[in-house]
Amino acid sequence: MRSLLLTSVVSLAGRFCFANGEKITFTSPRNPVLGDGSYYSADPGPIVDNNTLYIISGQDSAPPNDNDFIINDWFLFSSSDPKPAGAQWTLRTEFLKPHDVFGWAMTRGAYASQIIKGPDGRFYVYCPVMQANTTDEDPFGIGVAVADSIQGPYKDIHPSGPIVSQSHPAPGNNIENIDLTVYVDGDGKVYMYWGTFGSLKGVQLKSDMKTFASDVVDVTTLTGFFEAAWLTKRKDTYYMLYADNSAGPDSGCTPTVYHACIGYGTASSPLGPWTYQGVILGIVSSTTSHSGVVPYGDKWLFVYHTTDAVNGGNFRRSLAIDYMEFDDTKTPPRIKPITQTHRPASLPPPTYARQQFAKATSDPVCAIQYWIDSLHDLKTPVNPLPPEYWSSYNSADSQVKSIITYSWNTTIALNGTSMAFFADHDAGAVDGVAPPTQWWVEYKTSNGSWSRVQNLTSYLTAVSDTPVITYFKEVKTEGLRATLYAPTNGTSTAGIGIKEWAALSPQLSSW
Ligand SMILES: *[C@@H]1O[C@H](CO)[C@@H](O)[C@H](O)[C@H]1NC(C)=O
Ligand SMILES: *[C@@H]1O[C@H](CO)[C@@H](O)[C@H](O)[C@H]1NC(C)=O
Ligand SMILES: *[C@@H]1O[C@H](CO)[C@@H](O)[C@H](O)[C@H]1NC(C)=O
Ligand SMILES: *[C@@H]1O[C@H](CO)[C@@H](O)[C@H](O)[C@H]1NC(C)=O
Ligand SMILES: *[C@@H]1O[C@H](CO)[C@@H](O)[C@H](O)[C@H]1NC(C)=O
Ligand SMILES: *[C@@H]1O[C@H](CO)[C@@H](O)[C@H](O)[C@H]1NC(C)=O
Ligand SMILES: *[C@@H]1O[C@H](CO)[C@@H](O)[C@H](O)[C@H]1NC(C)=O
Repeated sequence: MRSLLLTSVVSLAGRFCFANGEKITFTSPRNPVLGDGSYYSADPGPIVDNNTLYIISGQDSAPPNDNDFIINDWFLFSSSDPKPAGAQWTLRTEFLKPHDVFGWAMTRGAYASQIIKGPDGRFYVYCPVMQANTTDEDPFGIGVAVADSIQGPYKDIHPSGPIVSQSHPAPGNNIENIDLTVYVDGDGKVYMYWGTFGSLKGVQLKSDMKTFASDVVDVTTLTGFFEAAWLTKRKDTYYMLYADNSAGPDSGCTPTVYHACIGYGTASSPLGPWTYQGVILGIVSSTTSHSGVVPYGDKWLFVYHTTDAVNGGNFRRSLAIDYMEFDDTKTPPRIKPITQTHRPASLPPPTYARQQFAKATSDPVCAIQYWIDSLHDLKTPVNPLPPEYWSSYNSADSQVKSIITYSWNTTIALNGTSMAFFADHDAGAVDGVAPPTQWWVEYKTSNGSWSRVQNLTSYLTAVSDTPVITYFKEVKTEGLRATLYAPTNGTSTAGIGIKEWAALSPQLSSW
C-alpha cells in the first residue's frame, strides 16, 4: 500500500458532468487497484474501447463503522494496459452524479451501472437511480443516457423518467429495480437483465436502447441467484455471472447468508433458458460481491470489489481485477475458477495470538447468519454485521450453555485468553444477544481429555473490543475450549455473541 503513487492530481475545467471531479493517475502494484484508502469504489462495470479498459463504479462514501450504502456519484477508472499484476491507472472522481444526468432522480443512490457501446457506435450508460417524485413503493428505476465518448457528457434519452421502475413494466414489477446488465449482441440486438433479492428479469430492447422489444422473462433457473447479474457472450455461448448466496456449511458458495460467491449460468440464446454451471469465485472480504467481465486482447478481465484497501469495509469497498479463463474441453465451454490476486502483504507484526492458526468448532453450530470463522480472524469490528461475529442466538430457543473449541495441528504453548463479546442487550438480559454470566477455558491434555487451565486472573464478562486478558499457568496443547453460560430466566435465554476469542502464547511470534 505504501508503494502506491499518486503521481499527479489535475483539476478539470468545468465543462462536463464530472465538472467538479479530479483526474488522478496512479500506479497500482496489484489488488486492490486503489489500495491507499483515498477513495473507495464499489460495483464495477467494465467496458473496453480503443484498447483502453474503462470501469464505472460507485463511490462508497460511508464513514468507518457506518453500516450504510452511501453512494452519491460514480467514478471512471481507466487503463490502457490493465494487468492484474500491476498497472498505470487513471481515476476520474465525480464522473457522473445521479441528479446531474437524470433530472428526475435524487442526488444519492449511485448504484451498480454499466456503459455499453450501442449499435449506433455511441455510448449508453444505464444507471439505477432513485426517483425523486414517485408513488412507487421502491423509488429505484433504471435511467439511460447517451454520449459520443465514454468520457461523456451524457444526456438522458428518456427525460420523462426511468425506462424500468415499479410502474414499468406494470403491473407485477414489485422488485427493487437495480443491478442491471446490458449486452449488445453481434446482430445489433440489445438485451437487458436486472434485479436483486433473488429476482432476475430480462428483456430485449429496441435499437433506441430504451423501449421494450420483447416480453419480460423471469429467470428462475440460476441456483442461489441473489443480485448483480452480468451478461456476456463468448463464441456461441451466453454467460450470466451473478452474486449467489446459496448459504450453508456445504453449499460450496458461502457459509453465511450475508456473504455471496459469484456463480454463473450459460444459455444458447440471450433470453435463456439458463443452465446453472457452478461457482467461479468464493466469498471475498466484503459481504457483498459484484462482478463484471470483458474481453481485452486475447484475455478476459474479471473486475469485482473487496474490503482490502486501507480502512476498507463492507460499505467502503475497492475495485479489484483478475483474469478469467475458459475451459474449452467442455460443451458449452465453462468458466474456470477465478484466482484472486493481492498486492504483496507486508509481514504481519509479531503477535501473541495463536487463534488464527486454529480450526474452530462450536456447540451450538451457529445460525446461518453468523460465522464461526469470525471468532479467530483477528478482527473486532466496532459495528459488526452478523457474519462478523459468532453467536449462539437462536430466535426459537438459545442454548444456556455453549462450548467453542480451537484445534491446532501441532502442540503450542498458551498462557492467556480473552473474549471480545458482542451484545445488543445489557448484562443479565434474557432476550437478544447479551454478555455471558460466566465462562472459562479448558485445554486438551496429552491423553485427549479436557482439563481446566489454572487461571491466575479472573474471567471477565464485560463487553469490550480490547478485553482484559485472563492469564493462566502455561500449558502445551493442541486444543483449547471455552464453556460459556448465557443469562436465562428458565423460559427465555439470551444468545451469546463473540467478535474474537483470543488464545495467547507466552512468546511473540510472526509465524
Ligand atoms: C485511442 O488511443 C490512442 C492511444 O492511447 C489515442 O492516441 C487516440 O486518441 C485514441 N482514439 C480515440 C478515438 O479516442
Ligand atoms: C418533485 O416534485 C416537487 C413538487 O411538485 C417539485 O418541486 C420538484 O422539483 C420535483 N423534483 C424532481 C426532481 O422532479
Ligand atoms: C498446520 O497449520 C498451519 C497454520 O494454519 C499451516 O500453515 C500448516 O500448513 C499446517 N500443517 C499441516 C501439516 O497441516
Ligand atoms: C489424562 O490426563 C490428565 C492430565 O494429565 C489427567 O488428569 C487424567 O486423569 C488423564 N485421564 C486419563 C483417562 O488418563
Ligand atoms: C479464576 O477465575 C475465577 C472466575 O473468574 C475467579 O473467581 C478466580 O478468582 C480466578 N482465580 C485467580 C487466581 O485469579
Ligand atoms: C422470562 O423472560 C421472558 C422474556 O423477557 C418473559 O416473557 C417471561 O415472562 C420470563 N419468564 C419468567 C419465568 O420470568
Ligand atoms: C504470559 O505471557 C505473557 C507474554 O509473554 C507475559 O507477559 C505474561 O506475564 C505471562 N503470564 C503468565 C501468568 O505467565
